[in-house]
Order: sequence, then C-alpha cells, then structure tokens
Amino acid sequence: METSKILKCLFSVVLLISSFHVSPCVSFTSFVFGDSLVDAGNNDFLFTLSKADSPPYGIDFKPSGGRPTGRFTNGRTISDIIGQSLGAKSFPPPYLAPNTRAADAILRGINYASGASGILDKTGFLFIGRVPLREQVNYFEQSRNYMVNVMGENRTKEFLKKAIFSLTIGSNDILNYIQPSVTFFFGEKNSKTTLQDFMVSNLTIHLQRLHELGARKFVVVGVGPLGCIPFVRALKLLPSEQCWTKVNELVQGYNNKLKEELTRLNQEMGPEAIFVYANSYDVFSSIIINYRQYGFENADQPCCGGYFPPFVCFKRNDQNDTSVLCDDRSKYVFWDAYHPTEAANIIIAGKLLDGDKSISFPINIRELYNYNL
Ligand SMILES: *[C@@H]1O[C@H](CO)[C@@H](O)[C@H](O)[C@H]1NC(C)=O
Ligand SMILES: *[C@@H]1O[C@H](CO)[C@@H](O)[C@H](O)[C@H]1NC(C)=O
Ligand SMILES: *[C@@H]1O[C@H](CO)[C@@H](O)[C@H](O)[C@H]1NC(C)=O
Repeated sequence: METSKILKCLFSVVLLISSFHVSPCVSFTSFVFGDSLVDAGNNDFLFTLSKADSPPYGIDFKPSGGRPTGRFTNGRTISDIIGQSLGAKSFPPPYLAPNTRAADAILRGINYASGASGILDKTGFLFIGRVPLREQVNYFEQSRNYMVNVMGENRTKEFLKKAIFSLTIGSNDILNYIQPSVTFFFGEKNSKTTLQDFMVSNLTIHLQRLHELGARKFVVVGVGPLGCIPFVRALKLLPSEQCWTKVNELVQGYNNKLKEELTRLNQEMGPEAIFVYANSYDVFSSIIINYRQYGFENADQPCCGGYFPPFVCFKRNDQNDTSVLCDDRSKYVFWDAYHPTEAANIIIAGKLLDGDKSISFPINIRELYNYNL
C-alpha cells in the first residue's frame, strides 16, 4: 500500500521533470521548521515543560475532533493554513511522532518544529526538552537520506527544488533574553546588538546548510511584536492596550537585520534559490491595533488561561470546567499568553500568502509556490 503510493509519487516526479505534469502528491510539499508557533506535535514526544497535549488546546482543530494535537493554539497554525490554501491534502506530520513514516517526507512533507526552541542552541533550556533549529536541520538530513535511497540523488534534487522550506523561529531567543531568571542562569548578558547579530549569523548557517541539502524555496518568518503578547506585558505589569516598547524595538532591530541578510542571500544564491522574508511583525501589529476592524473584541488578554500570571491554559479531562476559556474564541486575538488564536492565524496566513512587497519580500508565498526554478 505504502510502496504503491510512493511508486505513484515517484512516477509523477518523473513526469513532472519531463513534462510539467502536476500530480496531486507533489502539488504542494513543505518542510516546516520553527518553534511553538508552528509545532504540529513534536514536543508531545519529548520530556519537556513546553507541551500542548491537554485540552482545551486543539479544541477547534477539526481533523482531531477537537482533541489536542500538540499544536499550541485552538485550531490550525499559520503554516497549516498556508499549506491548505496552496492545495495540500494533509498537514505535514511531526517528525518525532511514532506513526510518522520516512515515506511521509515524499508524500506530505514533514514538520520538524518544536516548542521552546530557538535559533541559538541554548535557547529554551529551562523547558528541558526541545529541538533546537540545528537539530531540526539534522532531522531533515535524515529525511533526505531516505529520499535519496528511494528516488536517487537527481530526483531528490528535483523534488526538493519545488518544496517550500519555511522557518518560523527567533521569538524564544528574544523571550529568553528579556527574562531576568534566564539571565541569571546564563551568566553575563550580551548586548542587544550582539544578540541580534548572533541570531542572524547562526540562522544564516542553518539556511546555508539547508541549501546545501537541496532546499531552494525558503520562507523565513520574522519575529512578531513580542512586546504586545500577554506574557511579556505581564512581566512589565503593563495596563490594557500598552506594549513593552523596548522589546518591540529589539525585535524590529532583529527583523531589519534579518531582511538585509536575506536580501544578501538572494543576491549571492539567486536566481536558483529564493529567500522570502515574511513580515509577520507588521501584520500582527496591525491586527492588535485595529482589532475591531478585523472582527475581534479583545486584543490584549488570552482566551485561555485567565488574564493574570501564571496563565495556565489547562482543563482537566474529567471535568466540565470551562472557566479557563473565553466565551467566543473567534473574538480573541490571543489564544494563550504567547500564541494567537486560529482566527488571528487565518488573517496572518492570508496576508503572508497574498500580501504585497511590504509584507512578503521580494515575492509573496503564493508567487514563491508558483515560481519555476
Ligand atoms: C544525474 O544528473 C547528472 C547531471 O545532470 C548526470 O550527469 C547524471 O547522469 C544523472 N544521474 C542519473 C542516475 O540520472
Ligand atoms: C552563534 O551564536 C553563539 C551564541 O549562542 C555565538 O557564540 C556564535 O559565535 C554564533 N555563531 C555565529 C557564526 O555567529
Ligand atoms: C458535565 O456535562 C454534562 C453535559 O452537559 C452533564 O450531563 C454532566 O452532569 C456534567 N458533569 C459534571 C461533573 O458537572
């Protein structure tokens, strides 16, 4: 059964090379790297404090019937939604799930993202288990070895040329940096400029490695306005509708350097490779500021976990306790103290997919998908 699917797929890869015939199984393949914003369940299989494996996480995720899947939101993540919009028949399964097979790399793509992880290896160590970006790339290398075994080197190259490699990472590097308790463990603190530069240069190393492994279509998502998330506002005891400006400036400084670096990579490696910078900062800021225009009623409190620290979004299975949950999830921008609701993710995904150059640079994600390298 599995073998025949792969053979069918292989056959269509061959067709694709010879005649531009588009087959269902290669119409959209993505390899997803990142943190909890896009983790599709990898952390469920780690010993970690960063898990979304209990209700009400996943309450609006239809394929699971509302049960938690390890996604850190009530429904689909941004990368789930973008994949579906581009015609993916199913979501790339989490690499670490026991029922994910090596063949899924060819059939559906793979999700390597892990909650609490960062660009820097040390990021998230207080949560114990997580898969830092470097290891996520190592896992991809394993998937690629499988592809080469099954399809050969040349077909693997052709296959990977069409796939989209998205990286949504960096928030935790910055969140770790601004928390006093983490500084205490780290010892001396780098300057903000050093942090931004380390993030960009380390990320570049991972992008180059993916490129060496055959990735050509990249989407690198910048960091959002972390100074406005409930967790960070609570650290600073900020009143309603106020963000921690210094944190947002730190994020914007990083995003600017990231965008410059991606422009450089496009000059250096293009046109055989494309690096798209996805400006989630401006998209998400606009939702927070103009939330009523987008149909939301609340843009500063989490729907789940209450309005005050420690923001525990957790409901015991055996109780009808809905006290941790807001009444209408579609009216909240934030699902928990860190993550957007599915309602917000839908808006963000739509803008990144079809936005103009101020949102996705130099082309948007739909254009990247249609681009023939
Ligand atoms: C793979 O591609 C290279 C260069 O295009 C070619 O020389 C080689 O014969 C190909 N190998 C196979 C097995 O098709
Ligand atoms: C990566 O980040 C670390 C700090 O975590 C730094 O020591 C190292 O120099 C960085 N690597 C590069 C290539 O910038
Ligand atoms: C939970 O809800 C169901 C249906 O609404 C009800 O029949 C049941 O008695 C409730 N259980 C408790 C412990 O309140």
